Amino acid sequence: MIILGIVGSPRRNGRTAQLAQAALEGAAAQGAQTRLIYLVDYALRPFTGQGNAEEAETFCPETLSLLCEEADALVLGAPVYYGDINGLTKDFMDTVRIRNSNGKPALGFAIAGGSGKGLLSGVQSIYHWFYHRQFRAIDPTPVSRFNMAEAVASLRQSGARLVEEVVKFQPFPGRARDDRWADVLAHYATLPYFDADPVDEFFLLARQLLACRRGNAPEETLALAQADYDRALALLQEGQRPEAGRLAVRAYERLYYRG
Ligand SMILES: Cc1cc2nc3c(=O)[nH]c(=O)nc-3n(C[C@H](O)[C@H](O)[C@H](O)COP(=O)(O)O)c2cc1C
Repeated sequence: MIILGIVGSPRRNGRTAQLAQAALEGAAAQGAQTRLIYLVDYALRPFTGQGNAEEAETFCPETLSLLCEEADALVLGAPVYYGDINGLTKDFMDTVRIRNSNGKPALGFAIAGGSGKGLLSGVQSIYHWFYHRQFRAIDPTPVSRFNMAEAVASLRQSGARLVEEVVKFQPFPGRARDDRWADVLAHYATLPYFDADPVDEFFLLARQLLACRRGNAPEETLALAQADYDRALALLQEGQRPEAGRLAVRAYERLYYRG
């Protein structure tokens, strides 16, 4: 069994690589053979043809497509640039050929290593791709600087879970791609974050900051941020989304740190 980790960042020693390694460690601990590759090592090109998806596949280096087809499961990680995955990862997603993607287990994460904004929209992009290619994806993992340690730990567990998914490999039923959408959709409807919006994203960031700043931010600042967060949550439950969003931003800004 081969689990392939794919690093979408051009930086070899950055956070994307660290997180992908954690997922592969989890898989290796369950006995899987693992491979880690860096997209920057392949001559990926943006699709500039005139044809369809089949023509797009001719833009991807054959070795990269073969590695993905040979793998029993994929781990795909991307850095977040301006609220979405970076272009290198998107070029890979647009052009790679994976004929046997139906039901193949997959795990993805996006790391928004600056302000944190885009950690949800980034991971959504990866899971939209998994969905369209009919992978059987698990555990979408949104990451920022504020939950790095937790994400490393949870990706280790997800990597181990990926091995279990390979063992019970289950393609979605149906002969052709278009026969499978009902089952594919039902699977993705069970995953978190598919329906999340930017308000949810600020709530998540505020929660992450509240957790990671405990013990190293002034008590008074923490209390103010917690009060904003609690009020934001109450407003959300009353259906007052725009006002709830404003307060979630304020909670986040009270605790946000640079560097
Ligand atoms: C062009 C560019 C745009 C970026 N935009 C964002 C962003 O929208 N949100 C964020 O949190 N970080 C942003 N960052 C920071 C990266 O997400 C961060 O450096 C991340 O750690 C990169 O992953 P790496 O360490 O694997 O290279 C941006 C970085 C670059 C180069």
